[in-house]
Amino acid sequence: MTNKYIYFIANWKMFGNLQSLNSVSKVASFVKKFKKKKIKLVYCPPATLINSLSKKLKLSSIDVGAQNCHQGETYGAYTGHMNSYMLKDAGAKYIILGHSENRQSGENNKLINLKIKNSIKSGLKIIFCIGETLSQKRKKNTKKILSQQIIQGLKNIKNKKNIIIAYEPVWAIGSGLIPKNSEIFEIVKLIKNKVKGSKVLYGGSVNSKNINLLKKIDNVDGFLVGGASQNSNNFIDIIKKTFN
Ligand code: PGA
Repeated sequence: MTNKYIYFIANWKMFGNLQSLNSVSKVASFVKKFKKKKIKLVYCPPATLINSLSKKLKLSSIDVGAQNCHQGETYGAYTGHMNSYMLKDAGAKYIILGHSENRQSGENNKLINLKIKNSIKSGLKIIFCIGETLSQKRKKNTKKILSQQIIQGLKNIKNKKNIIIAYEPVWAIGSGLIPKNSEIFEIVKLIKNKVKGSKVLYGGSVNSKNINLLKKIDNVDGFLVGGASQNSNNFIDIIKKTFN
């Protein structure tokens, strides 16, 4: 997997404060010196940190992303919410949408589709998350569920060049469990067949140990890393090992 650009997306979820941004400086100086230039690093901190982090990383090759947005295309009376334009304005270049933690709290494919459309309009690149739950997997419904998430989530979106798809099995997120390499390979192949030309990432319990195994999957374009991205040493280790 070393001849193409490899994405590393750090998803900080609801963790981190201004002080945590110091750990990003360490990663930024590592990346600057790292000889393998074909890496694309994106930090997705909580919205409260997007502006400070994007200022901090202004001179680096690292981009900043948001973790979600309101589906609205315009501004409006939605207390507590932010639209994609505001996130772009704050310094985000990417946005994670369709994450299972948000699907679990009620987001459906139709709502995610609206969010994707409006985020594209505002000029953000999308990291579109899809994945099956354990019970869907047990019932052998994985392919059906992923197809639905793709078809409905990307409905009426013709130009998909700014959409990266992240395959994140729900049961793998934060659990320490990962699918077999052959399973990930098959799913990534399926996604790439459905969305021609798309980049596909794997996410769910990626860490500095299992990366040695995961990096062997040829058709994966990178990783969406949650827990392990919050510690700069772990994250650097993941990046280094991917290229070793
Ligand atoms: P995890 O999270 O790496 O902590 O499993 C991944 C994600 O939720 O994007």
